[in-house]
Amino acid sequence: MDTMEILTALGTPAGRADPYPLYASLHDIGEVIEFGPGHVLVVGYDAINSVLRDPGFRVSDKSTLEKDFAGWAANPVFVQVVDWLLNLNAPRHSRIRSLMARTFTARRIAGLEPAIAAMADELIDAMAERGADGSVIEFMHDFAYLLPVTVICELIGIPEADRESFRPLTRDLTGVFELRDLETLPAINAAAVELLAYFTELAAERRAVPRDDLVSDLLAVSDAGDGRLTDAELLHNLTLLLAAGFETTTNLLGNGLQVILQHPPAGEGVRDGSIPAPAFVEEVLRFDSPVQLTSRIGYGTTVGGVPVSPGAGVTTLLGAGNRDPRRFTDPARFDPMRPDGGPLSFGGGAHFCIGAALARLEGAVAFPRLLSRFPKIAAAGEPTRMDRLLLRGFDTLPVTVA
Ligand code: HEM
Repeated sequence: MDTMEILTALGTPAGRADPYPLYASLHDIGEVIEFGPGHVLVVGYDAINSVLRDPGFRVSDKSTLEKDFAGWAANPVFVQVVDWLLNLNAPRHSRIRSLMARTFTARRIAGLEPAIAAMADELIDAMAERGADGSVIEFMHDFAYLLPVTVICELIGIPEADRESFRPLTRDLTGVFELRDLETLPAINAAAVELLAYFTELAAERRAVPRDDLVSDLLAVSDAGDGRLTDAELLHNLTLLLAAGFETTTNLLGNGLQVILQHPPAGEGVRDGSIPAPAFVEEVLRFDSPVQLTSRIGYGTTVGGVPVSPGAGVTTLLGAGNRDPRRFTDPARFDPMRPDGGPLSFGGGAHFCIGAALARLEGAVAFPRLLSRFPKIAAAGEPTRMDRLLLRGFDTLPVTVA
């Protein structure tokens, strides 16, 4: 297969369902592969790392949008997107990122552990009740979606009574990451408007009466007196936290459970403690990354010996880098005890995922609890995959727990 045949195959439902043999063929071609005019695909682990850590490679930002989409400003979602950390370059990115990082502290994340455990147990109790007679439980719906959205709400400081309505809104909002046709834009815009209105009100409440939550901390940073985080920057990046943190973590939980269903010894190891939960989570991230790719814009340099022209579209295939045979021994083998770990699933460099510690914690709390309560958890029919390339995960994952 040549590069174009592989890329065509990756775009088909079968290729999206199992891209890994196609990634292996890409590795045979090279670390960095030119295709089409002005486009480069980066599949090697080292090459991806060097692109992501090189500040010369910029992310698409407001200026890109202005060039590519004349009507962007009429869409509320894009008015938010142009302030999202993901779509900012230095110096604006560095300023907003360091302010947000100041509130997103290791202490705050670690402090969420008891709440995450309690939320996981509540969901597990409900699953146990419904599945006690052998009824089929839909894991994505009953656990994998509910845990991350509840945890992010807890982190941000969204009261429990309001959380239920966040799930569908957040789902609609994430459509902006894989906008295939403009028909989905009205729903995405509507979600963006509603979330922004909610956060505006929440911020006003926390400004009046601060609490121990992320919104109050962000307000303290933005109200520091020198106007460093504007109201719009703050509110827009709150919607980013929902968009970036919810489905990704959902897919970590779903992809991890699928590994357990297909490799029962891994599940037994996590249950009896012989496989530390963090090591299991790390290997799930490598083996079946919830985020398969990200992209940058070239600036006129060479990566892995291949010239990348200024303005070239650079796609870094994180999911392929995680299976690079030059980096990982026997990359298609799931081995949580492998000494050569270190997945690219959270990116690298300036845009390294701000929620990585939270996502890892959720996985490390959830899997041992699920497995000790449901030692007999088993697949109940075929799961269905989301038909997406950027985010990789399941729509449904039916199981029995008794
Ligand atoms: C398993 C779960 C997750 C995965 C696989 C993941 C993956 C990623 C990746 C690959 C990037 C970098 C994108 C790039 O370089 O272009 C990123 C950035 C980001 N993530 Fe995550 N993420 C996860 C969970 C979370 C959570 C839980 C949150 C928030 C609570 C979050 C918030 C963010 C934010 C705000 C950024 C942008 C950072 C920046 O541009 O400076 N993520 N994530």
